[in-house]
Amino acid sequence: MTYFLKRLSEKRIWNKIFVQRLSEPLHLNFISIFIFLFGSFRKKVAYDLVLRPQHAYSILEAADQAKERGLKTISVLEFGVANGAGLMNIIKIAKKVTKVTGINIEIFGFDTGKGMPAPLDFRDHPEYYTTGDFPMNRDLLEQNTKNNATLIYGTVKDTINDFKKTISPEAPIGFISVDVDYYSSTKEVFELLDSKPEHFLPLTYIYFDDITLPHHNDKCGELLAIKEFNNTHQYRNISYHPFFANRRIFKNADWVKQIYYFHVLDHKYRFELERNRETNVLDNPYLNFEGNKKQFN
Ligand SMILES: C[S@@+](CC[C@H](N)C(=O)[O-])C[C@H]1O[C@@H](n2cnc3c(N)ncnc32)[C@H](O)[C@@H]1O
Repeated sequence: MTYFLKRLSEKRIWNKIFVQRLSEPLHLNFISIFIFLFGSFRKKVAYDLVLRPQHAYSILEAADQAKERGLKTISVLEFGVANGAGLMNIIKIAKKVTKVTGINIEIFGFDTGKGMPAPLDFRDHPEYYTTGDFPMNRDLLEQNTKNNATLIYGTVKDTINDFKKTISPEAPIGFISVDVDYYSSTKEVFELLDSKPEHFLPLTYIYFDDITLPHHNDKCGELLAIKEFNNTHQYRNISYHPFFANRRIFKNADWVKQIYYFHVLDHKYRFELERNRETNVLDNPYLNFEGNKKQFN
């Protein structure tokens, strides 16, 4: 509650409320009041009533997908932890998701532990970020996250290969939050995406934090890293889904445009050509035939 009230003291948050939320249909905002007071966790996620809805949506979706596939555990990763507000939010949300779905969630946070490394060139947006920005209060964060998340210190470049060896198909990655600001750091994160297909859910969600400011563009930063990754990978694709917003009740929120789908095209799930299941039959309401009866009676 204290955190919630603190956020309300930020000008940026009021801007979000007025420009993004209250510009949505009035009746939906009205219904939200009741959902906020009496709604289930799932309903609150659907109505963007959970702080950092990008985490809530993605972790819940990943857990549902894991359950469908008979898995018991998923892994959730945050790249760029700083003082840990995002990581602690992920921990809080993960507990709720576990309660609702029964899926265990292992959480990992990656950071240098001492703020931003040096920028490479204009592609790292030095106009926004520079060396030493976003340091971490390591002791305090560890005290507050122990037993709930594993913190991995060092540049991603130096830690990602060892981490890759620890991922297991029993706890595949379901959600990745990328908040390392730089093009060069995002490239380091993308080394992870070459892991074995079974180390991911067939559709893994990725949230990109640093693509919304006026100077962000696809010749720099996270957007450039995404473009380069897609150009060099045949069986992996990081894609912005143009219809994702249509599936949300509130469509104006920035985060809806910051969720990307990571498609693992060489995943067994997508590669099996023979499926042992009943034939799909399309309904034709103008005709009366067996197929219709089976599906719609
Ligand atoms: C904007 S902050 C992250 C904010 C955090 N996600 C939050 O919600 O409060 C960016 C972080 O990325 C980390 N970072 C950037 N490049 C990195 C790299 N190559 N390796 C490890 N950490 C990196 C920095 O140390 C910094 O703390």
